[in-house]
Amino acid sequence: MTSKSSMHIDPYERNWIIISIVLLVSFAVAISVAGFAFGIQVPSPEQRVDPRTVADSGPWADPGLRELSPGKYEAYILAQTWSFLPREMTVPIGAEVTFYITSKDVQHGFKLQETNLNVQVVPGQVSKLTVTFDRPGDYDYICTEYCGSGHAAMFGTLHVEP
Ligand code: CUA
Repeated sequence: MTSKSSMHIDPYERNWIIISIVLLVSFAVAISVAGFAFGIQVPSPEQRVDPRTVADSGPWADPGLRELSPGKYEAYILAQTWSFLPREMTVPIGAEVTFYITSKDVQHGFKLQETNLNVQVVPGQVSKLTVTFDRPGDYDYICTEYCGSGHAAMFGTLHVEP
C-alpha cells in the first residue's frame, strides 16, 4: 500500500477545498490589483480628536486648504449639521490633495464626486485620503450619511482650474 491510497479524501470534500483555495487566491489578487493598480485606499482612522473642542483650536478651527509645496495641498474639512467647512475650495490642475475630515457633532459622510474619495466622518476620528486631480472641473462633495433634517443641503464644491 502506498501512502497515496491511505490518504483518502472524499471527492466532494476535495472539491470544496479546491474552491475555497481558489476563492482565497482570487480575493488576494483582487485586493492587490485594487490597491496597487487602481490606487484604491482604505480609509483608516488617522487620528483621534475631541469633537467638542476640535473646532476651537488647531487646523479645524480654520478649515480649508494649505499648500505644502507647489502642487501639494492639505485640505482640513469640518463636517457639522448641516454644512461642510469650507464650502468651496480651488486648486490648480495636477494638484495632489490630502483630505483630513472630521465632524464636530454627529456622524456624516464625505463623498467627492468623480473620485474614489468616499469616507464615513465619525465624530472623534479623522478620515484621511489623498486624491490627485488630473482633470479640470467642479467636483461636488456631498454628505452620504443621513444626519438629520438638513442632510440634503450638506454639500460643497472643489474647483480644479486648468
Ligand atoms: Cu451630514 Cu448627512
